[in-house]
Amino acid sequence: MIDNKDDISKAAELLRSGELVVIPTETVYGLAANAFNEDAVAKIYALKQRPKTNPLILHIAGIKELTNYVEEIPDAAVKLMNHFWPGPLTVLLPKKKNVPDYITAGSERVAVRVPNNAKTLALLGQIDFPLVAPSANPFTYISPTKPEHLRICYGSKTPYILEDGECEVGIESTIIGFEGKDLIVYRLGSITVETLEKICGKRVQVSNQKSTGEMTPGMHHKHYSPKTRVRLTTLENFPKEPDSKTAFITFSKKVDAPVTFYLDNRHMHDVAQKLYAILYEVDALALDQIFIEELEETDLGRTLMDRLRRSSASK
Ligand code: TXA
Ligand code: MG
Repeated sequence: MIDNKDDISKAAELLRSGELVVIPTETVYGLAANAFNEDAVAKIYALKQRPKTNPLILHIAGIKELTNYVEEIPDAAVKLMNHFWPGPLTVLLPKKKNVPDYITAGSERVAVRVPNNAKTLALLGQIDFPLVAPSANPFTYISPTKPEHLRICYGSKTPYILEDGECEVGIESTIIGFEGKDLIVYRLGSITVETLEKICGKRVQVSNQKSTGEMTPGMHHKHYSPKTRVRLTTLENFPKEPDSKTAFITFSKKVDAPVTFYLDNRHMHDVAQKLYAILYEVDALALDQIFIEELEETDLGRTLMDRLRRSSASK
């Protein structure tokens, strides 16, 4: 049995030698590489089968490191980062020249965050380069929230996993940026629009993901998708005579059916934390379809509905 310290040293060594390591974060597991090693970063795109046009988030150890990589930091950004870091807030800021284009897919802005996970923070403290880390799932699949999800995704090709149990938050970080004086949310995430507005004291805009190109974070219509067909609807529209090839995921009450999962919508943090793991579990059953109950679109419900809509998209 390797103890934590050895674990972290091994991960650091692999990253130094240009290998990928699966890292725990509070949101979801990430597939990490040395941000300044182009060959290592290419391995992320190859393993995930992710289009090269889709840029990567830079993970750093603390706010002090930020000025190494970005040019201008608006006051509102400083306030939000001080409040939420380490934590699930990713900020898009104008990049310095030393940040390679192969991380940002040619964009002049780089996405940065400080993850809130003790092992990953210790790892970042041991290495002298930042990490790029997308969610560790194959392109368009569900983000992994437990180590065993990685083995489902990649089998014998799974890189070394710095294991740290189940992720606490369970859905991806919120991605924000600035257009003029406006604060824009590019990807809804675990920090909700309501919380952001409370902390920064003004309205924020949520980017209309339909009108922009490949560069808009998480904009792919199909994303977060299990292999099994997902139908997102209200309880009234669920089939009245459920068969054993249909799974049900409900939030307002338990339903009676051969394959059911219930997460109580009075505890939305629990719903968020466990939802992806349930999707992995259901997908492994190789059923015909999954009916998922719609959530009320406020706070975390809004973020989760965004994910569920994408997971039910056919293309
Ligand atoms: O919670 C998270 O953010 C997780 C953990 C591992 O940190 N990471 C994550 O990364 O969700 P990823 O790559 O799966 O999603 C990041 C999104 C992508 O949709 C990407 O297009 C967008 O952020 N993104 C990254 N850099 C960007 C940039 N410079 N400009 C615009 N979008 C960017
Ligand atoms: Mg992802």
